[in-house]
Amino acid sequence: MDLISNPFSPGAGAPPPELVGRSTILEQADTLMARVQRRRAEQSLMLTGLRGVGKTVLLTEIARRARAAGYRTISIEAHTGKNLAALLIPPLRELLYDLNRVAGLSHKAKQGLAVLRGFVGALRVKVSEVEFSLDIEPQVGAADSGDLEADLPRLFQAVAEAALEQNALLVLLIDEIQYLNKLEFSALIMAMHQMQQQQLPLVLIGAGLPILPALAGQSKSYAERLFAYPQVGPLNAADVVLALQDPAKKAGVSFTEEALLEIFRITKGYPYFVQEWGYISWNSAPLTPIGLRDVQTATPLATQRLDSNFFRVRFDRLTRAEKTFLRAMAELGSGPYRFGDIVSAMAVEHSALGPVRAKMIKEGMIYSPAHGLLDFTVPLFDEFLRRAIPDPRDTAVV
Ligand SMILES: Nc1ncnc2c1ncn2[C@@H]1O[C@H](COP(=O)(O)OP(=O)(O)OP(=O)(O)O)[C@@H](O)[C@H]1O
Ligand SMILES: [Mg+2]
Repeated sequence: MDLISNPFSPGAGAPPPELVGRSTILEQADTLMARVQRRRAEQSLMLTGLRGVGKTVLLTEIARRARAAGYRTISIEAHTGKNLAALLIPPLRELLYDLNRVAGLSHKAKQGLAVLRGFVGALRVKVSEVEFSLDIEPQVGAADSGDLEADLPRLFQAVAEAALEQNALLVLLIDEIQYLNKLEFSALIMAMHQMQQQQLPLVLIGAGLPILPALAGQSKSYAERLFAYPQVGPLNAADVVLALQDPAKKAGVSFTEEALLEIFRITKGYPYFVQEWGYISWNSAPLTPIGLRDVQTATPLATQRLDSNFFRVRFDRLTRAEKTFLRAMAELGSGPYRFGDIVSAMAVEHSALGPVRAKMIKEGMIYSPAHGLLDFTVPLFDEFLRRAIPDPRDTAVV
């Protein structure tokens, strides 16, 4: 079939042709924003889910809806190489200048810029990576102590007051939020706590791996009440049918029921895989409708594509000890896995594996769904390891 009109979109953050199964979360986000705009208290949202379930595309959709409703948005992505302050300063600066411009001249926006200037000046981190110029005198004594837990809440307060002056709502969207360091996470939680207490119009919507609730809880016990953690999971069969059939039909093509069932069976409803199978099945089918045969032809190709990119890139980044650990996990079948069982399978001392486990949790490769248990953050990673990676334990030195 025509490759160019193929509607499916496997990729990181690539908007799907049809965003299905997420109406509850989207409504939750709409309600949160509308309530805070009316100065009513509401829990901020932290979307949690495994790799490739659609967290980034949800954040993008929430940001789109926010802008359509007239709210201001700031979208950033946390990563280990860059600190939170450096990520926040440029968009906050832009926002404050804009609030000032829109208002003609705004006292609160000017003050916000002065506080931001103080915040930048007090940063011990290298800010040369941040492009900014603020031709304004810093406000001394506000957000400039150099202690992020004190300064970030103060900065948010100044920004939110500038927004409030113009009856604006600021929606801060942070992707991969599990990559913030402990101090940044704690400062962010404290800042949001303050926003809620003072009923200021700044909303946080974050997204990250399932480790998020634990990270937030460890940081501040009240974080449990401050945030709601909607889970972004695999799609059910009916949603998979919609995700595939609707975009195909719009292009004058359809899937047979058996074809759709087979894609659901193989992908287990994980959105990235659904897009991948939709994409390759389309390309494999000579004619509409796309049938079971076409999906069966697509399966080895789609599997191979996933193995050589989606799965492989994550695996190749690991150290030898980490690879050995994960391969041993996979050998135990599908997860979750008891740490004790992995230790026994590897025939090593418990203490030898603790640091390897801790590092992989930090890097977001594995997580602990419950006490004493571990699982992969990448869906179907165990199948990939068993299929594509020879068990290295005979030769490995752990
Ligand atoms: N609700 C959905 N319906 C259909 N397809 C979806 C849906 N959500 C996501 N997808 C598709 O799944 C793929 C992965 O989405 P996305 O990159 O947002 O996942 P993610 O959770 O952010 O992954 P990661 O943790 O790796 O960043 C994309 O190709 C996207 O088009
Ligand atoms: Mg993402």
